[in-house]
Amino acid sequence: MAGLGNLTTDPVWIKLTDYYRDNKEKLNLRALFENDSTRFDKYSLEVELPCPNGGGPALIDYSKNLIDENVLSLLFDLAKSRKVEERRNAMFGAEKINTTENRAVLHYALRSREDDAPIVLDGKNVIVDVQRVLKEIESFTGDVINGKWVGYTGKKITDVVNIGIGGSDLGPCMVCEALTQYTVGPKSHFVSNVDESHLTDVLKTVNPETTLFIIASKTFTTQETIANAQSARKWFLTQAKDESAISKHFVALSTNVEKVKEFGIAKYFEFWDYVGGRYSLWSAIGLSIALQVGFENFRQLLDGARYVDRHFLETPLQANVPVILALLGVWYNSVIGWESHAILPYDQFLSKLPSYLQQADMESNGKSTTLTNERINSYNTGPVIWGAAGTNGQHAFYQLLHQGTHTVPADFIGFVQKSEDIAGISHHSILLANLIAQPEALMVGRTKPSESIPEQLRPHKYFEGNRPTNMILSKKLTPFILGALIAIYEHKIFVQGAIWNINSFDQWGVELGKELAKAIEPELAGKSKGNHDSSTLGIINFILKHGNN
Ligand code: F6P
Repeated sequence: MAGLGNLTTDPVWIKLTDYYRDNKEKLNLRALFENDSTRFDKYSLEVELPCPNGGGPALIDYSKNLIDENVLSLLFDLAKSRKVEERRNAMFGAEKINTTENRAVLHYALRSREDDAPIVLDGKNVIVDVQRVLKEIESFTGDVINGKWVGYTGKKITDVVNIGIGGSDLGPCMVCEALTQYTVGPKSHFVSNVDESHLTDVLKTVNPETTLFIIASKTFTTQETIANAQSARKWFLTQAKDESAISKHFVALSTNVEKVKEFGIAKYFEFWDYVGGRYSLWSAIGLSIALQVGFENFRQLLDGARYVDRHFLETPLQANVPVILALLGVWYNSVIGWESHAILPYDQFLSKLPSYLQQADMESNGKSTTLTNERINSYNTGPVIWGAAGTNGQHAFYQLLHQGTHTVPADFIGFVQKSEDIAGISHHSILLANLIAQPEALMVGRTKPSESIPEQLRPHKYFEGNRPTNMILSKKLTPFILGALIAIYEHKIFVQGAIWNINSFDQWGVELGKELAKAIEPELAGKSKGNHDSSTLGIINFILKHGNN
């Protein structure tokens, strides 16, 4: 926020870093729990998610973090002194807080309801447009699911292929998988990579007569998406042999209506430049979700996020879930220097959540210039986000989480209820037992291996413990709860960006590589020669010698 001073000269920051320097030995989780029987009550929140068919209680347990009352109170002071609330109010007040692109940041408006207070941008209530497009989505998805919208031979649409990348892929792809059990419409497929294998692999599984292609691109200029869209159209026409069939099988989602028309797509669903790509699953970009799970479930996804918007806006910092999670992240990443953060969903249907949050977080907060144009070189901003679905991760990288030289703060995410047992085996009890055991093991460790273990093995069986985790537990993976979960992370990212005084809503860092690739492409076709370093030139020459051209 303009006017914010350097983080490292902020008096609260200085107090916080001094406190860590002087007290780090005392911040031992085992001792903290031993000395305070009320620790869980103090550092956990139970929230009732108000959705009659898919809400229920949620638990956010942050007691297994290396914090005491002083740390937490200094972190809340930091949020105040970094003007987090003012910045949040500026976003919800439709100010153009994305200053490097001169845009407002209104993804929350996509979750609004018709009679919500107006969100006015440049003199216009954006809710009106949002509702109009939602109605278009509702009517289109209804038509496709009910078989009113059919393919060029009159057959019902059975498959949807979403062609997009980044925010135009990761969100819908993650949500469609997460809500598999709510499927009522066509099967969705996602093609993002410009590597032809991705498209050809999907095309092998679908029938042109019953497939709807969604070309999803905010800008409608993204090279990968346009290349895949053109190839999909060519594939389709080779089979349909009739240009007029395109209108039944290709729809577009974009802010760039002109480019959509230029491409030759008549049916499109609009969204607006105040929606960042990585925050766009709530917009028309979510069409594949609505087609798969039906509009009512899509609406519930939006409602879950809308509930969290209110919570973020109205709840005092001390009980504000995104704020608490954000402050803990700042504590680890910027004060202590633990640079990565693991996302560990204990639900197979959420296996794509870590990749989704990778873009959401790393494209938002992977920045080193402040809003007031200074270079940041004395503290860490956005962490490295990674993870995998439990229990798979336990058999892959948890070794490092338990005994490695890095400390990786982690979010464990789980759901209390699941469907029936399979063949009398309670898979879900096994899953939940692991979900509970891992954070416990990470926290408690095992510093005194049993006497029965040979002496030379004991150092290898030593678990230091004291490794921090959050637990986010809710009743069931429903559209509403999923919407709420995603919005918690969106606002967490926002709060961290505010503390670091960076613009979480631009992505200039993706430009340079794109530009260089454009220049190299003709070189690979032997059409030009660029001026490169010897390594880059050596790689180009190797490809020219051994490649297809
Ligand atoms: O990677 C850069 C980026 O602009 C992302 O922010 C965005 O989600 C993705 O490319 C796709 O962009 P578009 O939706 O415009 O095709």
